[in-house]
Amino acid sequence: MSLLKPLKIGKLTCKNNLVLAPMAGITDTPFRLLCLEGGAGLVCAEMVSSSALKYGNERSQNMLKISAKEHPLSMQIFGGDVSALVIAAKLAEEAGADVVDINAGCPVKKVNKAGAGCVLLKDLNKLENMVSAVVKSVKIPVTLKTRIGLTENNFLTKDIVNLAINSGVSALVLHGRVASKMHNGPVNLAELSKAAELTKGKITLIVNGGITKPEEAKTLLEIGADGIMIGRGAIGNPFIFKQIEDFLNTGTYTEPTPQERIKKYKFLVQQNIDFYGERVGLNRSKKTSGFWINNFAGAAKIRAAFVLCQEASKALSLLNLK
Ligand SMILES: Cc1cc2nc3c(=O)[nH]c(=O)nc-3n(C[C@H](O)[C@H](O)[C@H](O)COP(=O)(O)O)c2cc1C
Repeated sequence: MSLLKPLKIGKLTCKNNLVLAPMAGITDTPFRLLCLEGGAGLVCAEMVSSSALKYGNERSQNMLKISAKEHPLSMQIFGGDVSALVIAAKLAEEAGADVVDINAGCPVKKVNKAGAGCVLLKDLNKLENMVSAVVKSVKIPVTLKTRIGLTENNFLTKDIVNLAINSGVSALVLHGRVASKMHNGPVNLAELSKAAELTKGKITLIVNGGITKPEEAKTLLEIGADGIMIGRGAIGNPFIFKQIEDFLNTGTYTEPTPQERIKKYKFLVQQNIDFYGERVGLNRSKKTSGFWINNFAGAAKIRAAFVLCQEASKALSLLNLK
């Protein structure tokens, strides 16, 4: 059977099982649209604070805005307080999200200090109650994104799978690195395979971590997961979803030329400027310039000039490759 297939998340069926990971500061509307065009079956928005939503924070409310063209979309919420998570899930549903995802994997100190992200793994009973409450509060499918554990050799895979099944989530998204490794190092294929075995026929499993090439995507699908999630591998290469699709269908794929890549980046920069305005749009674009402007003669020079540029027209003209 083909490894490429539709992905079922509760009542939602995505056209394929290749998912864009949530990435704070990166997976906003302009980038999500690029990845959908690049072949992603589902895109995830950057995490939004449930307590900020509870208290009506305008910036967080703006993060819930979804363009009509960016479906299917999963809105990720984070927090350590069940009442705030329920409010946030309802707001995400009202905003038009197709899925609401709960973050129980983020290792960032600021998030953990608020009792959210990976620290939720310290009390699995509490986490299960929180997740169940969110599942009951909305009609759209709820998913849980977490990790195989907090520290190496103290894997929680089996308990997490049970928690996901018992809480009623429609899919478990499992990052194959423990929280102490942040986003670095190899993913633990043995633990992800164990999760695939334990979830088979019970709950949808999406695995995540370390996919930068179609060959790595195939390896993760071969362990028996229903879908894969791609994070950094899509920054600077939103073509990766189509590449994976081609590789799984035909055994080959093509790399975009530098000209194609920079043309796509220029398009994204313009979209960012239109979406956020000149200053913020340019600043957001600059954050990922290293992923885009690389691997061709003169790239370093163009990148250096680009990050110093304060004017949209000049920045865009730097991206006219011959
Ligand atoms: C810049 C950055 C921001 C991230 N933000 C989030 C986030 O908002 N929510 C989340 O669940 N994970 C977040 N992650 C983790 C990714 O979703 C993903 O799990 C991780 O990068 C591993 O996948 P990868 O190896 O394909 O990049 C972030 C990762 C990066 C690099």
